[in-house]
Amino acid sequence: NDLYAVVGHPISHSKSPRIHSLFASETGEALEYTAIQAPLDDFAGTVQQFFERGGKGLNVTVPFKEQAWRLANQRTDRAEKAGAANTLFQDDQGLLVADNTDGCGLVRDLTVNQGIRMKDARVLVLGAGGAVRGVLGPLLAEAPASLTIANRTVAKADGLVKLFADEAGGCQLAACGFEQAKGPFDLIINGTSASLQGDLPPLPATVIRDGTAVYDMMYSLQTTTFNQWALDRGANRVMDGLGMLVEQAAESFRIWRGVTPNTSAVMDELRND
Ligand code: ATR
Repeated sequence: NDLYAVVGHPISHSKSPRIHSLFASETGEALEYTAIQAPLDDFAGTVQQFFERGGKGLNVTVPFKEQAWRLANQRTDRAEKAGAANTLFQDDQGLLVADNTDGCGLVRDLTVNQGIRMKDARVLVLGAGGAVRGVLGPLLAEAPASLTIANRTVAKADGLVKLFADEAGGCQLAACGFEQAKGPFDLIINGTSASLQGDLPPLPATVIRDGTAVYDMMYSLQTTTFNQWALDRGANRVMDGLGMLVEQAAESFRIWRGVTPNTSAVMDELRND
C-alpha cells in the first residue's frame, strides 16, 4: 500500500487519518494514512525521512505550514501566494512540490456544499494571519463585490490587501479594524484564532443583517463561540469548518491519487463520530 501521513505538533487530535481512510475505502484506493508528530526543531528531517522510506505524500498542519512552504523545491501558484503549504509530494525527479488546498476547500464548501453565492457578495473576513492568507486567493477568484479584511492588528490586514491587490480584479479589497467594519455583509468568515482564547472580535452588530451567512473556519462539535455570537445578533445561517476540513483533504487526495472522493458521506460520518 502507498503511504501517506499528516505531520504536525501536536497531532493526536487530527481528523486527517480518519478522513483519508474513509476516502480510500470509498474509492477503493490501496493506501495507508498515518499521523506523524514531528519534533518542533526538526520538521525538515521528518519530511526527508518520510519520503526516503518511500512515502508518497504528506499533509502538513500547525505549526509547520510555513516551513513546508520554505522547504519545497517547487510550489504551485496558489501555494506561492498563500505563503504556506498543507500538501507535499515528490515530482518525477524526486523534487519536493508544495501545494495549498485550504482555500480551494473553503470555497468548495461554501459554494458547492452550502450553496452560497459568492459572486457579487459583500464579504467580511476576520483575521490576517496564516489561515486567512491561505484562503484569500481562492475567495477573490469567486469575484465578490467587496472583500473587507478586519483584524486586531490593522497593519497586518493592510499588508494582505497589498499582497492580493493584483488578484482583486473588480472586487473592492479593503482593510480595517474590527470596530470599523460597518457592513452589513452577506457573508462573514472568521479566520482568527480568537475563540481559542475564548475571545470575540469587537465587531459592531451592524455587520449582520437578516440573511447574513456566517462561516467559522474552526471546526467544533458544539456551536463555536463566534457562531453563537452571530446567532445572538440575528444571523440565520452559521456554518463551522468541518466542510472545509473535508474538502481540503479531498483536494489533496485528488492531487495524490487522481481520484475525487465523495465528501458528503465523509462529512456525515464525522458529524456522527
Ligand atoms: P493562523 O495560522 O491561525 O492564522 P496566526 O498567523 O498567528 O495563526 O494568526 C492568528 C490570527 O488571529 C491573527 O489575525 C490574530 O490577530 P493579530 O494579527 O492582531 O495578532 C488573530 N487573533 C488571535 N488571537 C486573537 C484575539 N484574542 N482577539 C482577536 N484576534 C486574535
